[in-house]
Amino acid sequence: MLKLFGALVVLGLALAFITSWVLDSYDTAWHPKRSIRHPSASDGDGPKGSSPPFPGDELNNIFWFVQVSDIHISRFHDPKRIPDFEKFCTHTIDVIKPALVLATGDLTDAKTESKVGSLQHEVEWQAYHNALKKSRVMERTKWIDIRGNHDAFNIMSLDSVNNYYRKYSANQKVGSFHYVHTTPFGNYSFVCVDATLTPGPKRPYNFFGILNQTQMDLLNKFGAESLKSNQSIWFGHYTTSTIVSPSPGVRDMMRSAVVYLCGHLHTLGGLMPVLHSRHPHGTLELELGDWMDNRRFRVLAFDHDLLSFSDLQFEQWPAVLITNPKDAQYLHPGVEPLGRIRKSTHIRILAFSEAPITAVHVSIDGEPLGTGRSAGGPLYVLLWDPTRYLTGLHTITVKVEDSAGRSVVREQHFTLEDTLSPSFGFAQSFILLTDHYILGRALFIFMVFLNVAVLIAFRFLHVSSSRAIFSQSCVSLHLISKMDLYYYSLLMLNLCTALGPWFIGEMIDGHSGACFAFGVFIDGHFLEGSLTYVVGVIQLLFFNIPLTSYLCWSLHHRCHGNTLWTHLARPGRRGRTVAVHVFMLLLLTWQAHSCYFLLQTYGVTAFFLSPVRTWALALGVALVYWAWTGPAPLFRDSGKSNSSS
Ligand SMILES: *[C@@H]1O[C@H](CO)[C@@H](O)[C@H](O)[C@H]1NC(C)=O
Ligand SMILES: *[C@@H]1O[C@H](CO)[C@@H](O)[C@H](O)[C@H]1NC(C)=O
Ligand SMILES: *[C@@H]1O[C@H](CO)[C@@H](O)[C@H](O)[C@H]1NC(C)=O
Repeated sequence: MLKLFGALVVLGLALAFITSWVLDSYDTAWHPKRSIRHPSASDGDGPKGSSPPFPGDELNNIFWFVQVSDIHISRFHDPKRIPDFEKFCTHTIDVIKPALVLATGDLTDAKTESKVGSLQHEVEWQAYHNALKKSRVMERTKWIDIRGNHDAFNIMSLDSVNNYYRKYSANQKVGSFHYVHTTPFGNYSFVCVDATLTPGPKRPYNFFGILNQTQMDLLNKFGAESLKSNQSIWFGHYTTSTIVSPSPGVRDMMRSAVVYLCGHLHTLGGLMPVLHSRHPHGTLELELGDWMDNRRFRVLAFDHDLLSFSDLQFEQWPAVLITNPKDAQYLHPGVEPLGRIRKSTHIRILAFSEAPITAVHVSIDGEPLGTGRSAGGPLYVLLWDPTRYLTGLHTITVKVEDSAGRSVVREQHFTLEDTLSPSFGFAQSFILLTDHYILGRALFIFMVFLNVAVLIAFRFLHVSSSRAIFSQSCVSLHLISKMDLYYYSLLMLNLCTALGPWFIGEMIDGHSGACFAFGVFIDGHFLEGSLTYVVGVIQLLFFNIPLTSYLCWSLHHRCHGNTLWTHLARPGRRGRTVAVHVFMLLLLTWQAHSCYFLLQTYGVTAFFLSPVRTWALALGVALVYWAWTGPAPLFRDSGKSNSSS
């Protein structure tokens, strides 16, 4: 029995993968290296690519900025988070002196003390606000803070009093916007993609962002406007893989950008310390680890319109950023004037430290080239001859020392050929470039279909016809399908998981709604399903399917004349029998935990009005009980389909 279901699940997974692969978008994960050039931009050999200005020995045509993400100011956890953040705003910003700072969402944690429930805490917002005020960081740089999913938990509308972002953030802009950073040497566009949900349900159902057509149109307009700028950067909280949008989708929309900066996934709990990839059109997607636990931040620079960046750790000095020649991994030949690297006269390095920098040693391919000299500010330059490196991949190593005796070594590959760009890891590309809600939806639909189809098919099949093919497993499926009690209960359970409400309750405090697999309704608003499909797949995998299997197994043994105790007392395969019971007990416990989670996140009403959680648990327990204590089925392997009920 278990074997059959295992095989079906594997088959389901395989089919769903293929389905979503066909559903295009997925395609990109398999070809992270491929880069299609943007038609409107000339490539590296074109007039823009190799036209002046060229990187030289002066502090010109360069500016740098900072990104920080997922700050999660919390009233309950990690008391050092706030003082560290204040120190970041004063000290770190003073050392780096960025032209602007992007705080890409999740400014506050907005969770309950148990970390399960969610609501906006005014004190957390005040703490954030005070950090900005006390450090006077807004007077020293342009601070652009946007909302993340945590900043939208439990908020009915943007005008709600508990939308504290309106009151306490620096930016106070809701929705997407286009900011142009103007410098004497060019204009640089920063386009914010705000995919946070309105209304914003409590966790976990705002893990995915949504952009509707109106919002997409606005972003397309910004995209068109930004073509006037020298370069454009897009940024937002969600990775593009966690945004639900109408086709052709967000990635297509930001094709003229050199990079999309985001946060949201932190480091996946340490599993993916680096999450970078490249869209099919060539735009880079750079997820930044969180401030919350990992104290990460990022320094980026446009040097002669070439973008480089360095992911850094709070209070680890010196910080180094090699802006010319830029890292080969992150070239965007479609929009960057890469020919300038070939025509540059100097290697250029930004070095920051709280103590004065004493030395910047440079070597290429292991051969020392000399020591950089200061060109003003944090910029260090060193004369070089790029014609020595025209082909292939080379390694530049920079060692920076400061007067406090600290030093750091940074090594990166570079190339002067536009087309030679190392590809990104499969896992990174899969996480950042797959539309997970499409994958989740395909899997979910397939699994529901499979479950229901198997039940119905066996209800109407004769034992003898399929017996030869599937042997014993099928006999038990016949048993369960032909006994009305189990058949209708399991059918209801599966149909309810697929179509019915999972629970009804206060999706937002004071506003009731209902959660379905295909989406969430709140007070007349509808939010398309995304995480719900993933939750649904887990529900099927860890409850519906195992419950069905277990009932089949139990009835099979009942039918052979066993009761729970005689079956347990049977010599020989007792270990296996106990293991099956324990496994079922664990799954019931897991379901009970889901009920508890629901109680904690959405409250008492949701707990009691929950067909797929609480009711399903009760049904499961009742069916298991009935299977072992009810009348034994009068059904034999050799029998006809005259089952009892
Ligand atoms: C920015 O664009 C303007 C107009 O195309 C150009 O003159 C200028 O050189 C560019 N700036 C840089 C740093 O390339
Ligand atoms: C930057 O934009 C301003 C107007 O917004 C324009 O006057 C200026 O020429 C632009 N600079 C460059 C270098 O394109
Ligand atoms: C799209 O979303 C915005 C903001 O959430 C909302 O104001 C607008 O009415 C929505 N448009 C459509 C067509 O649903």
